[in-house]
Amino acid sequence: MSRIAYVNGRYLPLAAAQIRVEDRGFLFGDGIYEVVYVNRGRFVDAEKHLARLERSLREVRIAMPVGRPALEGILREIVERNRIRDSGLIYIQITRGAARREHVFPQAGTRPTLVVTARALASFPKDVDTWATGIVTGPDQRWARCDIKTVNLLPNVLAKQAAKEAGAFEMALVDEAGMVTECASSNIWIVDAAGRLRTRPLGHDILPGCTRAALAELLAGERLTLEERAFSLDDLRAAREVFITSATSFVRPITRIDGATVGEGEVGPVTRQLFAAFSRHVQGGLPNAA
Ligand SMILES: Cc1ncc(COP(=O)(O)O)c(C=O)c1O
Repeated sequence: MSRIAYVNGRYLPLAAAQIRVEDRGFLFGDGIYEVVYVNRGRFVDAEKHLARLERSLREVRIAMPVGRPALEGILREIVERNRIRDSGLIYIQITRGAARREHVFPQAGTRPTLVVTARALASFPKDVDTWATGIVTGPDQRWARCDIKTVNLLPNVLAKQAAKEAGAFEMALVDEAGMVTECASSNIWIVDAAGRLRTRPLGHDILPGCTRAALAELLAGERLTLEERAFSLDDLRAAREVFITSATSFVRPITRIDGATVGEGEVGPVTRQLFAAFSRHVQGGLPNAA
């Protein structure tokens, strides 16, 4: 069955869906995006993702092309038309539209481009141990507004490719002061050498992850406290536990950093507990199936 894309009001087979050559997303990366995980018909953390989408648009002064209820209708329709029954992701991209190539904004009334696609994913991971993966570290070479989810992802693309070529899943990005910001497409958390659960506070230097926010809300029920305090590359290397969060990584244990094991090289107890808590959150309060 061919995949279906939504482009500016029309549902089309992916191969037939088109945007214009002068679309500013294509020319300048002048656009923003969102990724929402869908599990058995439930949009996970949808409210957070849609609020962040609206915020990103405001920050770069692109108008929302359709209202919130219409967008929610498109999301439901795209999941239906792509027959995503179990696990999948929805990709939403909005650009400043198509106009003669000039850096300045196009004339008022230029319609923003709205594209929505979806694809099936492997089922939510049942086993936290096999979900564990490795990362490498490298310099954070991004711009000064990483809190906006723009489609300008070249440094992230290069970081992720370097990780892949090193046999790792992600790259933890390190700023010029030697502090870890986040990963190329996820937030990063540690249980530090003193046993404190830490992640970097929000600011212009990281994306405010929706999974990060959802997990932070689950902590009280888990009797865990979070210190939102930046940590250095040395802290990362000395951490007892490390994990990353994102809409499609969920809570993903990190057991190797630059080829060295984290702690004993096994998934630690806090990561295990948070993976289980997040999996209940994803499944709508039910325990993850065995
Ligand atoms: C740079 C970056 N940080 C963090 C995240 C995690 O955000 P979320 O949990 O909303 O998926 C992403 C997700 O794509 C990302 O690209």
